[in-house]
Amino acid sequence: MQPACSCLAIVLAAGEGTRMKSLLPKVLHPVAGRSLLGHVLSSVARAGADAVAVVISSERPEVGEQTLKLLPSARIATQHERRGTAHAVLAAKDALKAGHDHILVAFADTPLVRPETFAALRGALAGGAAVAVLGFEAQDPAGYGRLVEHDGKLEAIVEHKDTTPEQRQIKLCNAGLMALAGEHALAILEAIGDDNAQREFYLTDAVAVARSHGLEAVVLKAPESEVQGVNDRAQLAGAEAEFQRRKRHAVMLEGATLIAPETVFFSFDTEIGRDVTIEPNVVFGPGVRVADGAVIHAFSHLEGAEVGPAASVGPYARLRPGTVLSEKSRVGNFVEVKAADIGPGAKVNHLTYIGDASVGAAANIGAGTITCNYDGFVKSKTTIGANAFVGSNSSLVAPVTIGDGAYIGSGSVITSDVAPDALAIGRSRQVEKEGWAKIFRKEAAARKAAKKAAE
Ligand code: UD1
Ligand code: CA
Repeated sequence: MQPACSCLAIVLAAGEGTRMKSLLPKVLHPVAGRSLLGHVLSSVARAGADAVAVVISSERPEVGEQTLKLLPSARIATQHERRGTAHAVLAAKDALKAGHDHILVAFADTPLVRPETFAALRGALAGGAAVAVLGFEAQDPAGYGRLVEHDGKLEAIVEHKDTTPEQRQIKLCNAGLMALAGEHALAILEAIGDDNAQREFYLTDAVAVARSHGLEAVVLKAPESEVQGVNDRAQLAGAEAEFQRRKRHAVMLEGATLIAPETVFFSFDTEIGRDVTIEPNVVFGPGVRVADGAVIHAFSHLEGAEVGPAASVGPYARLRPGTVLSEKSRVGNFVEVKAADIGPGAKVNHLTYIGDASVGAAANIGAGTITCNYDGFVKSKTTIGANAFVGSNSSLVAPVTIGDGAYIGSGSVITSDVAPDALAIGRSRQVEKEGWAKIFRKEAAARKAAKKAAE
């Protein structure tokens, strides 16, 4: 493929059914934290599409708004009535007329098609085909268009409802998306009629039209798992499962150990380094990077967080957006961290909340420490210096700064800044009454015996 070769991707996102039973448009439902539409936009971009048109329906303007957020350069075309896939593609006629070399047609509800697959369809155009379609061997072909071949050549695609009984036996099905040579695309699309069982303009007829114009149509094959579409929530879960299967595999091949891969859930953008170990039951929300040699212990939840080299997280830790863990720092069990930097080698090992804070290198935060960052109106910052030692069960009332090397006595409520290397104790002084317990026990026993005797 020459780099000079321009490519327009037309993404069909109009005409969804009713099976999602949702206020949210189908193509905006997420798989691994990114909308179905977002997956498709990313995939066509990586296949080299330099222009994108998204065809939406007038009932779902949100789809256009979301498209522009993800890809400000996209053109939005509206299909005003649902008259078939070719009709939908022609809604983007203005974009088609711009004279691109390759036209890719993708479905926004088919999120798992890999960039390599779109690129392979383009490769078939570069090899001389006017139309390249993607086929798959369907376990259950019912409902899909069938690819009719003759002498090894693709002759036509016949929609399920229009098949003859013999054609119905064909297992090779149409995945839906295709690539068209830019120089022929408009002529082919405009020659498509609606003479079929559903009175729709079928994109699939591009094959028969191309053949009748003496042009070549070819089929490339993909696994069924790659071309699965989403029409209801069960299929949404199916797409999620397939995405996770792929991502786990990729992460392991890149050098991470997943002890029980089927229990680890990634986001579309999770980045995992080498020699990272991820224990069972870990969930990654969007925006997480884990550097080499880090360990994520079981049952941790991470989102918008950066985990530094050889850092340790969990078990049962929660990292929220804005968390940055430096090299060899440790965040242990039942610890929540939000918008905070934890310095190199610092330890926050047990039952703690660190929010809107910075913790210096090698500081030690005792069990049960809480940064009191919120007064109901504004969030304030806690700064803890390098090598500071915060005793267990302390409340640090922000805004507050603990100097380098300072000590905080356990159980303190710290409301004022603490100087470097000082000891701050913010709790009432301990009182001791000599022999009190002995006297108490004696008197209490006597009272109980007297009461019993009186009964
Ligand atoms: C389509 C293919 C079929 C293929 C199947 C794979 C056609 C005619 N048929 O059938 O060969 O096996 O996909 O899943 O292309 N759309 C619009 N506007 C419309 C109609 C559809 O935007 O007027 C969009 C839909 O939102 C969807 C896509 O095009 O994203 C496919 O439409 P759909 O009606 O689901 O096509 P199928 O009947 O499943
Ligand atoms: Ca469909």
